[in-house]
Amino acid sequence: MAWWHSAVTYQIYPRSFADSNGDGVGDLRGIINHVDHLVALGVDVVWLSPIYRSPMDDNGYDISDYCDVDPSLGTLADLDELIASLHQHGMKLILDMVINHTSDEHPWFIESRDPASPKRDWYIWRPAREAMEPGTPGAEPTNAGSAFSGPGWAYDPQSGQYYLHLFSPKQADLNWENPEVRAELYTMMRWWVDRGVDGFRLDVINMISKTYPIGDGPAGPDGLCYQLGMVANGPRLHEFLAEMNAAVGFAEHELFIVGETPGIDVELARSFTDPAARELDMVFTFEHVEVDQAGMKWELVPLRLPVLKATLAEYQYGLEQAGWNSLYFENHDQPRSVSRFGDDSPAFRVASAKTLATTLHLLKGTPYVYQGQELGMTNAGFTSIEQYNDLESINFFHLAVSLGLPSEQLLAVIAAKSRDNARTPMCWDAGVNAGFTTGQPWLPVNADHTQINAAAAIADPDSVFHHYRKLIALRHELAVVREGRFELLLAQDEALFTFTRTLGQVRLLVVANWTSAAQPWPWGLPEVTGAELLLGTHPVGAQELSGWESRIYRLA
Ligand code: NOJ
Repeated sequence: MAWWHSAVTYQIYPRSFADSNGDGVGDLRGIINHVDHLVALGVDVVWLSPIYRSPMDDNGYDISDYCDVDPSLGTLADLDELIASLHQHGMKLILDMVINHTSDEHPWFIESRDPASPKRDWYIWRPAREAMEPGTPGAEPTNAGSAFSGPGWAYDPQSGQYYLHLFSPKQADLNWENPEVRAELYTMMRWWVDRGVDGFRLDVINMISKTYPIGDGPAGPDGLCYQLGMVANGPRLHEFLAEMNAAVGFAEHELFIVGETPGIDVELARSFTDPAARELDMVFTFEHVEVDQAGMKWELVPLRLPVLKATLAEYQYGLEQAGWNSLYFENHDQPRSVSRFGDDSPAFRVASAKTLATTLHLLKGTPYVYQGQELGMTNAGFTSIEQYNDLESINFFHLAVSLGLPSEQLLAVIAAKSRDNARTPMCWDAGVNAGFTTGQPWLPVNADHTQINAAAAIADPDSVFHHYRKLIALRHELAVVREGRFELLLAQDEALFTFTRTLGQVRLLVVANWTSAAQPWPWGLPEVTGAELLLGTHPVGAQELSGWESRIYRLA
C-alpha cells in the first residue's frame, strides 16, 4: 500500500481561510496560525489552492510566476515555515499546479506575443478564420467556447493572430507539443519538490494534450461550442503524464499526485491511476457532481439518489482491481454539499452534513475535506450579482441576460451553483467577520456564522466537526475502511444509500438515510442483530431511521 492509501486530505483556499494582516484576504500566515485546527481534525495531507504570483483574474489559477508566492498571500519564507510546521505535525503539503495554461502576464506569454520570438510556439496561435477580417466578431479560428463563457480564442492585434484559452482570456493555453515547454515545467516542479513539497494537485491535467486540428463543434445559442472535451484528452496525454512522472520523480520521491480530469470516464480514470502505468496516483472525476444538472452546469434538475449511487459505485467497482479513487463532494469549484445534496434547514443541517460525510468517508479511496465542510458550512445566500466575485458566475449571468433570460431565474441558479458558495470566508468564531479578518473581507461572510463556526463546533461534542474527526480516525484505525471491497446494496432505493465494505472476515455495513423523512428499516439488508455500531448520527436503538440518520455497523 502506498502511504496515501490511508490519507485524508484537507483543501485550503488560501484567500478565504484566515487573514493575518487585516487586508481582507486570507494568507499563508493565517494558515500557519491555524495548523492546530488541522491537527485536531486529524488530516494527513493539506492541499493549497494556488499561492503563486498571479494577477488573480481566476484567483491564482492564472500564474505569472511559478517560483514565487503572490504578495497578497505572503512570501516564500512563509511557505517554507508552513511546510516545516505541517511536517513537524506529521502532515504533508501538496501544491496546486496549473500547467495547462499560464497568465497572459507570465513573461513567457509576453515574449510569445512577438511572432519572431523563440517562445512564439510555447502557446497555441492561429490565424483568423479564412476570408474573415481578423479581430471582427466571428473571425475566431474555430467556434470553441471558453469554460467561462465567450470565445476560447482571444485576438492579439500585435500579430493579427489569436491564442487559445480554454478558460479566461488571461489564461493562455500552453503548447505541450513543444518539448521545451514540457522540460521547463518539469524543472520548475522539481524545484518545488526540492523545496519540500510532498506532491501536486494537477489542474485540468487531461487538457494538456489537445486534439488537433482544433475544429468547429456543435454551436449553442451564442454560436459557440462549449464542449471542452472536444479539445481535451488528446492522443499524447498518456505519453506526457508518464514523461512528467519520470522527469519530476513522482515515484522516486513517493509524491502524492492527484489530477483534475473533467470529462473522462472510468476506463480513462483507471488507465491514469493504474500503478503499472506510472502516470497519476488518483484523479478527480466529475460525473457525481453533475447528477443534479441537465447537461450544462446551470440547468438544474433534482438529485436522483439512484443515479448518484450508480455513478459512485461505477468508480468503486471500476477501480477495484487497478487504480485508486479520490472521494469528494466539495471543493473551491462546487457549492456547499449540505445545501446541495443535504438539508441545510436548522432541523437537519447537522444530521445531513454528518450523513453526507459518513457516506463519502466510508467509500474506498482518498477522501477530501474542503475547508468549512467539516463545520457543515452552507451556501453563500447571495441575492444580487454585485455580491459575486467569481468570473464564471458573472460572465454567465451577463451572457444569459444578453440572450434574454430573466435575471431572477438566473440569480436563483447562480445562488445554487456558483463557485463563490465555497469561497466565502472560513468561519472561525461568532465574532465580527467570523474571526476571518479584522478588515473588510474580499467576499462577504456567511450570515449564519454566528451559529456555524469552528469555535462552536469544537466545543460541541455532537458537532459535524467531531463526526468528521471520528470518520478520519476510523479510516486510520481500520484496514477495512482503507482496503475493503465495496458492494452497493438496494441500488434503486430512492431514499437510502447503503453498502458494505469487506476485508477478509471483517464486514462493515453503512446505512444512510439521504432524506429528511424518517424511513423504515429496509428489507434485504444483512442482519444487524449482534453487530457493533461503530458510528452513528443519532442515539441508538430505533428500528426506523430518522431523517438524515446514518449508521456504520461492524457485522458479527
Ligand atoms: C480548475 C480549477 O479548479 C478552477 O478553479 C479553475 O478556474 C480552472 N481549473 C482553470 O484553471
